[in-house]
Amino acid sequence: MRRYWSVKFSYMIIAVAALALAVACSEQMMEPTIDRTNNPPANLDPYVQNERIGRAINLGNALEAPNEGDWGVVLRPEYFEIVKNAGFGAVRVPVRWSTRTSETAPYAIDLVFFARVDWVIRQAFDNDLAVIINIHHYEEIMTEPANHKDRFLGMWRQIAERYKNYDSDLFFEVLNEPNNNLTAALWNEYLLEAIDLIRETNPGRTLIVGTAEWGGIAALPRLELPAEDQNLIATIHYYNPFQFTHQGAEWVNGANAWLGQTWTGSTAQQQAVTTDFNTVKSWSETNRRPIFMGEFGAYSKADMDSRARWTAFVSREAETHGWSWAYWEFISGFGAYDGSADAWRDPLLNALIPPVGKTGQPAQSKMAARDEGIKKTVD
Ligand code: BGC
Repeated sequence: MRRYWSVKFSYMIIAVAALALAVACSEQMMEPTIDRTNNPPANLDPYVQNERIGRAINLGNALEAPNEGDWGVVLRPEYFEIVKNAGFGAVRVPVRWSTRTSETAPYAIDLVFFARVDWVIRQAFDNDLAVIINIHHYEEIMTEPANHKDRFLGMWRQIAERYKNYDSDLFFEVLNEPNNNLTAALWNEYLLEAIDLIRETNPGRTLIVGTAEWGGIAALPRLELPAEDQNLIATIHYYNPFQFTHQGAEWVNGANAWLGQTWTGSTAQQQAVTTDFNTVKSWSETNRRPIFMGEFGAYSKADMDSRARWTAFVSREAETHGWSWAYWEFISGFGAYDGSADAWRDPLLNALIPPVGKTGQPAQSKMAARDEGIKKTVD
């Protein structure tokens, strides 16, 4: 009898130990460490992906300079944290590959530069920011498209291969602002080939595709996208009225003559933006494509009140339509952040991300609704 109880007791101890082990294991399983560089995306809804981008900012004038630092910006780890803490959901990182790629086939990309891009994506991921990388300032393809098509595709072959296993928070934007001899018709051809090539290694990644004629809204009706590929987000850049946003811009001929232009938010000024956006909205609805306003901003030569008013109006209008956006840009000539003061320029930051509780956002905005939800939980 005693032996019976001691055997029974041993079984009980084993059972309890097994249970404890199972609980410990399941707890561990509940917190798996996902390697975000080894988690290729699948079955994505581009509209959900577009909400993930939400409110973003361009880390401009850094990696799209001929060499990082040439234009005064070297990306630092703390920038990603600053951007995240301010409430942005994503960063767009313009990248100039053309000065880091060999001139002849197979157009090898410099590995040191590739490692720098790896680092940038890692910083974004570590700060829970989605990240968009593109091909930016490929000036040669704009003047001599035919001579640069293979090289352009060669770049994408390598970029797509290198990042094919990165998770859904990495977005590829095929080319910034096609222009000049890379006409809308030619761009449609090149774009299709680039998408096909990227899809060989990245069948599930969300791609961002923009318009010709400098990425503006005017060329939207000429943008042709493959009907069978739904995992695309269309992008437009918005700098209207150009004479206001680009007054005094050193890279625009005659821009000094525009100095002093203001944006008061008059009915006519607001109506001009609304009318522009309605054309984008109707294109988006007819073609069933989500919209990412990948660049918009007013240069520092305009007065701050006007810049803030324009920025607030344009970003809220975009949100009303359910578009994501990325302000141009973080810490340079359009900078929402002042690097020498190590502080946000409050009027611009508040215009982009209205402080919770005094949003003044249109009720129908999806993102305003999301903010309202956050506010309620905070309250
Ligand atoms: C260009 C920048 C320029 C900005 C506004 C961007 O697409 O890359 O160099 O400052 O547009 O003009």
